Amino acid sequence: MKLPPHLTIKNGHLHIGGHDCVSLAETYGTPLYVTSEDRILDRFRNYQQALSSRYSKVQVLFAAKANGNLAIMRVLAQLGAGADVFSSGELLLALESGIPAKKLLYNGSSKTKSDLALAVQHDAKISVDSLDELHQLDGVARKAGKVAEISFRVNPALDVPTHPKIATGLATSKFGIPHNQIPAAYEEALTCKNIKPVGIHCHIGSQILDVEPFARAAKVMVDIARELSGMGVNLEFLDLGGGLGIPYHHDTDPAPTPEDYANAVMPVFLAGIKAAGITPELWVEPGRFLVADSTLLLTRINSVKSAHKRFANVDAGFNLLVRPAMYDSYHEVIVANRADAPLVTEFTITGPICETGDILAADRKLPEIASGDLIAVLDAGAYGYAMSSQYNGRPRCPEVLIHGNEVALMRRGETLADLTCTMVRPPWHY
Ligand code: LLP
Repeated sequence: MKLPPHLTIKNGHLHIGGHDCVSLAETYGTPLYVTSEDRILDRFRNYQQALSSRYSKVQVLFAAKANGNLAIMRVLAQLGAGADVFSSGELLLALESGIPAKKLLYNGSSKTKSDLALAVQHDAKISVDSLDELHQLDGVARKAGKVAEISFRVNPALDVPTHPKIATGLATSKFGIPHNQIPAAYEEALTCKNIKPVGIHCHIGSQILDVEPFARAAKVMVDIARELSGMGVNLEFLDLGGGLGIPYHHDTDPAPTPEDYANAVMPVFLAGIKAAGITPELWVEPGRFLVADSTLLLTRINSVKSAHKRFANVDAGFNLLVRPAMYDSYHEVIVANRADAPLVTEFTITGPICETGDILAADRKLPEIASGDLIAVLDAGAYGYAMSSQYNGRPRCPEVLIHGNEVALMRRGETLADLTCTMVRPPWHY
């Protein structure tokens, strides 16, 4: 199987960033999320470089929803990343990680007044999803004695080749304002005393392996930008969202690079802004591309059995990595302690959750395996821990970060006490 450079096989063991997964699992226990910081650095620089070599005013915003660990966000903050945040919690995480408010875009299709107030208080820019929200925000900003800087979220009505649950720019999707209603929305915004429209935003979906739809989205956006500039809207940024996919099937999926993305998008963007006579910053919001392949989920086999097929029952399930259960997603797996053994039998790797759908990897050719062996689930750094839960009374596992020779915890494992610490006994219960 093709492996990215931070994953290597030595003496039969899988290594990440030069560290032996078998030793990591012994030291920290399993299940365990392990992330290579250096891989994230490389991915960010690569993405940033592909765009900024073609246009000087580029701001990469990390989509915090993909991985909200502060250690990871701090690394990205130090590289100059901004953040796409989707909740008050993500806003605070981004600020705490050192990302300045001026590099934040508060997105979301369903914000409360207190979410809006927090964004206004910190002077984060806000991507407004409806006219109703616009007027609520105007009121919130007035109360705070501020002017809220906004973009509108455009629904470009584009079909994209991805799982329907993560296609966000379809005409039928819940996100944004239909593109043909966007000029009217800006007109309305210009009448609001405590609103200043400064940008325009879209996001067409996630895990997109063909770069052509991004170019189509860019075209929709620059055409609208041109119309807006004719109306007197001064666009300081044009945000194309995230969505560049990664090859979860290492040997067969296309693997578009940021260069491919830039080659498709930048000619459309540059020609469009030229035609509009504007030079806005180009904002992009990658999540998965920056962090997904940096991370392994290490999980130990509790037991194996032969039923109608062979199952390996491991200690991590959809409580820790929900993607396979939720989107039928594919993640490569490697037996970390027998990483160069011949693949001789087919196994289905199942988690400990009390649901038939708790399958991490179905029908995979693996070496002969037994209880105690260690499975590495690859590409778990985006929407992995971030979507985890305590379902079935399972405390979440720790996360460790690797940087050069160093390894350190970046999140402790939860304890059984963490399961109950937020619960409150109703007064009538003795
Ligand atoms: N910007 C906005 C407004 C978004 O909604 C998203 C993702 C992104 C950026 C980042 O997209 P990315 O570059 O990561 O594709 N849980 C799903 C993915 C949901 C994505 C939601 N929005 C999964 O595990 O595949």
